Amino acid sequence: MNNRDVFSSKFGVIAAAAGSAVGLGNIWRFPYVLGENGGGAFFLIYLLFIFAIGVPVMLSELIIGRRAQKSIFGAFKVLAPKYGFFQSVGIIGVLTAFLILSFYSVVAGWTVEYTILALGNNLADKSPDQLADLFADFSNSIWRPIFYLIVFMGLTAAVVIGGIKNGIEKYAKILMPLLLVIIIILCLKSLSLSGSREGVLFLFRPDFSKITGNVVLVALGQAFFSLSIGMGTIATYGSYIKKKENLLQTAVSVSFIDTLIAVLAGVAIFPAVFAFGIQPDAGPGLVFVTLPNIFNQMAGGYFFSVAFFTLLVIAALTSSVSLLEVVVAYFTDELGLKRKQATFLGAFLMIVLGIFCVIYPKVFNGFEWTSSNLLLPLGGILISLFVGWFLGRNKVKDELEAHGGKAIYLQVFLFIIKIVAPIAIAIVFLNNLGLIG
Ligand code: TRP
Repeated sequence: MNNRDVFSSKFGVIAAAAGSAVGLGNIWRFPYVLGENGGGAFFLIYLLFIFAIGVPVMLSELIIGRRAQKSIFGAFKVLAPKYGFFQSVGIIGVLTAFLILSFYSVVAGWTVEYTILALGNNLADKSPDQLADLFADFSNSIWRPIFYLIVFMGLTAAVVIGGIKNGIEKYAKILMPLLLVIIIILCLKSLSLSGSREGVLFLFRPDFSKITGNVVLVALGQAFFSLSIGMGTIATYGSYIKKKENLLQTAVSVSFIDTLIAVLAGVAIFPAVFAFGIQPDAGPGLVFVTLPNIFNQMAGGYFFSVAFFTLLVIAALTSSVSLLEVVVAYFTDELGLKRKQATFLGAFLMIVLGIFCVIYPKVFNGFEWTSSNLLLPLGGILISLFVGWFLGRNKVKDELEAHGGKAIYLQVFLFIIKIVAPIAIAIVFLNNLGLIG
């Protein structure tokens, strides 16, 4: 396996993994699910899940991937030939990638459409109501969303065919920092709007009476979704990471960057939501309806709207690439397809499923709900149990210390993934089924 493509530098590893994590999950999904689930209290629970469960699960995936030098499905075959059961993680992971990428590409298609609207200056001079109608008309139509879905999937396939060093890594390195700068500018503008204070309070002042079992489940699902964990994406990237990289540092940096961008997206959106009288629980259209209002109030709004939506397409692309990569790695490693064939096949199947998501909102919602709130946390349980109980302490230690440092946190890490994370996730599930609490 020495000829396996690898990331060329530490910055490249973090940029590519952060490129996978940072995407529509942070900028589109985080604000909208937070708005639907009561604001500040959701935010706190989300943060808790990111650091107490998300980071350890991400680290577990990196360990699995780098140890096995295989995509997630093959990884369990190599690492646990005796425990065939764990191969189900790989299978669930590939299926989850299909579900996520199909609705994800639909939303990414919306961002492509909005980039083009912004370019033609068609978002300018519209009232908040007109902007809401514009989104509703577009997202309820059929042909245009399907067209943009196909465009987006084509872009994703093009990057995936380029391979790791020349494809994913090259794009991620340059463009992620640029996106950060634009979001910060949007935050400043949003905070300066009159009436913005209420939005800040909505986001940062927890109202604990809003917490229900469902809110906790959605926060957990969002943490997994946003970090790209629970289905083997990060494990697949882990298989491309050199031994000299420090895996803990990678997991912490990626989680930190991911959380930062989600928080900044919240700060850009909620002050404006309240300033323009938009409903915080407006659902999946929230970002598309809110941000154009901010651009309309900004000096240089045209420039910023074009730049923002373009970068959002690219952020979505670095994430969709990582999802398609899971499927392609499976097709190439397990079915022996060539990279190109595997990519075309994967992209084609995703487009077909995506078309169902466009035509039937129930399919869209069902895919979104099942993947984030059920399959990813379930994958998380299995991944932590595997690394905690089955991989063997020595191998875990070996991976964590391969860069030459000492993993003084090993005990804590093992305690979390053996016990804390699986039990916490199981409790959230059971609570939602109404079995406890
Ligand atoms: N995390 C990405 C986002 O926030 C989406 C994503 C990419 C993902 N790969 C994933 C989600 C794997 C779950 C699992 O937009």
